[in-house]
Order: sequence, then C-alpha cells, then structure tokens
Amino acid sequence: MTVITHIEDLRVLAEKRVPRMFYDYADSGSWTEGTYRANESDFQKILLRQRVGINMDGRSTATEMIGQKVAMPVAIAPTGMTGMQHADGEILAARAAKKFGIPFTLSTMSICSIEDVAKETGNHPFWFQLYLMRDRDFSGRLIDRAKAAGCSALVLTLDLQILGQRHKDLRNGLSTPPKPTLANIINLMTKPRWCLGMLGTQRRQFGNIFGHVKGIENMGSLSEWTASQFDPRLSWADIEWVRNRWGGKLILKGLQDAEDAVIAVKTGADAIIVSNHGGRQLDGAPSSIHALPAIVDAVGDKIEVHMDGGIRSGQDVLKATALGAKGTYIGRAMLYALGAMGESGVTKALEIIHKELDLSMAFCGRTDINKVDKGILLPGSYPV
Ligand SMILES: Cc1cc2nc3c(=O)[nH]c(=O)nc-3n(C[C@H](O)[C@H](O)[C@H](O)COP(=O)(O)O)c2cc1C
Repeated sequence: MTVITHIEDLRVLAEKRVPRMFYDYADSGSWTEGTYRANESDFQKILLRQRVGINMDGRSTATEMIGQKVAMPVAIAPTGMTGMQHADGEILAARAAKKFGIPFTLSTMSICSIEDVAKETGNHPFWFQLYLMRDRDFSGRLIDRAKAAGCSALVLTLDLQILGQRHKDLRNGLSTPPKPTLANIINLMTKPRWCLGMLGTQRRQFGNIFGHVKGIENMGSLSEWTASQFDPRLSWADIEWVRNRWGGKLILKGLQDAEDAVIAVKTGADAIIVSNHGGRQLDGAPSSIHALPAIVDAVGDKIEVHMDGGIRSGQDVLKATALGAKGTYIGRAMLYALGAMGESGVTKALEIIHKELDLSMAFCGRTDINKVDKGILLPGSYPV
C-alpha cells in the first residue's frame, strides 16, 4: 500500500485508477496550458519568512467564509462530472467536506443531483454553483431546487458562457457515460475498480439536467452541449434576477480583473472568487495568485475576496490568505483524491492540506489564521 504524503501522491494514484478521458478532463487546461501551469508555479515563487522564538502553542486555522464557520479557509470548488472520477463522487466528496467542517460546492454539471447530495449527506447545508442557461425557466427551477435542498450559498460562475478549448477532451471524445469505442473499451479494461464502482450506481448522467429539461435525452459531446445550452448573453444586468430569485448568500465566481471586481461590488453579492477556472478558459490570462493582490487592493474592504487556481498544498492556502483571500477553493486536489481513493481520499487530502497550513503558519511565527497578513512573505517575492 502506497504511503500518501502529499497531493501529488493522490494525483499519481488517480492517473492509474481513473479512465483516461476523465483523468485528462481533470488534468488539463486550455490551448497551451500556460495559465494552467502558472496557477501552480506562481505559488512557488512566493517565499515565506521563517520566524523563531515565538510561542507556537494553541494554534487555530478556524475562520469564516461568508459568515459561515470553516475549519480552515478552504472550500471544495465546483467541478463538473465529479461522479465520473469515482462512482457517486459528489456525494462522497460532500461527506468528506462535511466531516472536516468545510463547504462543499456542487456544480450544475454534476453527476449526482442536488437532491441526491442533500439526501445522502443528511441535509447538511452545501453550496450550489449555477451556470446560467438559455432556458431561464430551467435556471430558475435550478435555483429553486438548491433553495429547497437547503443550500447555504449560491455560486454564480461568470467565466464559462462559452467553452475554452482543451485539446485532450476533443481527442478523447469526452462524454458521459463513455462511448463504447474500441479505445475506450481497452482503457476501461485496465480500470476494474472504477468499473465495479460504476456498475454499483445508477448515477451516470448529469443528475441536475436529465429529467429536468424537455427534449434533452442525449447530450452528445460536452462542448456541443455547452455551446447550445449555456447563455452567451449573460451580463451584469442578469445578476439582479439571480439574486432576487435566490434570496440568500451569493458568490460571483471567475473574476480576474480589478475593474470587474468594482462592478461586482455594486451587484450586492457577498463575495467574489478570483479565478481563471483552473486555467481551462482564457489561456494567456495571469495566474490567480498573480491577479489576487490588485483585486484585494481595489475592493477588499467592500466585499469578501476568495480565490482558486493551483492550490495543491496548505502552503498555497497560507500564501493566498497572506495576500488577502478570505477563502480558497480546491478543484483538482479534490478530484485527484477522489479518483485515487474515494471519500477516504478526499479526507486524506483535507488532512494533508490542513497539516501543511498549520505547520507553515507556525514556522512563520503565527498562531491564528485570522491574523495572517503580508508580513509572513518575503518582500519582493510576491505579486503586488
Ligand atoms: C475537471 C474540472 C471541472 C470543472 N467544472 C467546473 C464547473 O462545473 N463549474 C465551475 O464553476 N467551475 C468548474 N471548474 C473550475 C473549478 O471550480 C476551479 O475554479 C478550479 O478547478 C480551481 O483550480 P484548481 O483545479 O487548480 O484547484 C472545473 C475545474 C475542473 C478541473
């Protein structure tokens, strides 16, 4: 049995266990993947200041995101088709998050439905991520379903009304369930654990969509479906409609620019997420950690600023916190963990990130995550 010591171990295991098209779907960015890589590598350039002679007893990573208590400033990011990394993936990840005391965000494009996740996690509040569709009636009903399921925040994604091109998905003919082509069958034969899991569940389609949208019996390819169903006209004016229909905490996801952040404040949203969709949309955009400081500077005192993109360790969480993020999200770190080991994998990933965060904070001479600021970073090594 492999000893799992860091997130990379989980990625390596996931690559072995998850069918190629779904592993590739997670481990890819758009076009050259430059922004995808920069999300991770820009964290490495930021240096921490080690301090000594400070009492490190009684440390705490507990804080709040949008007024909700969290065991550490980390939430699970919404990711599509999570139930294809592992059978019933969304339910398992939501359970692990609940046990750890951090928020889980369910994607519109999940395999397990809103109702499934609510039922199987004992109606523990989770967050729901919305993509606005051309069919406003369907979007409205999705919002109502999230409300009925007791979701405690709505995350509206603004950066994927059109789909960035990821070469691997096109080559692999990404679809759910996988089409029975020769290449897929040969690949599936090498993933017995995954196949057994899938045979044991009925959840193999987009659970929030199938049975809820008239005329959609077959999704074809993900890229075609997105092009035909997602609403490219989404504009700032639509946010009021979403806010009124929802009536609860609202988080806007996918901002990269300080000018947009200033507009976002005017919508009355509770938080924004600085994000480039994990480098999957506009390749050539800056990494999220690079974009964060200017946005915090512009609006940090008016709205809660969160970030995601490239977080693979607790040190990354610490650096984002130091640069003003009140919360962070993990996408791939969770997906790899789930693909590798199911629910226990996600628990393991959260434990690893928490330990790295706690120890690094202590090495920097701080004992309370709420008091972490730029003072723990080496001047000149971080973006401003
Ligand atoms: C496989 C995959 C699927 C994703 N699906 C969605 C989605 O359905 N909705 C959404 O808002 N973001 C989606 N994202 C973006 C994530 O929410 C998040 O912004 C990104 O994964 C953060 O970067 P990281 O993976 O480096 O942590 C997806 C990301 C990945 C990797």
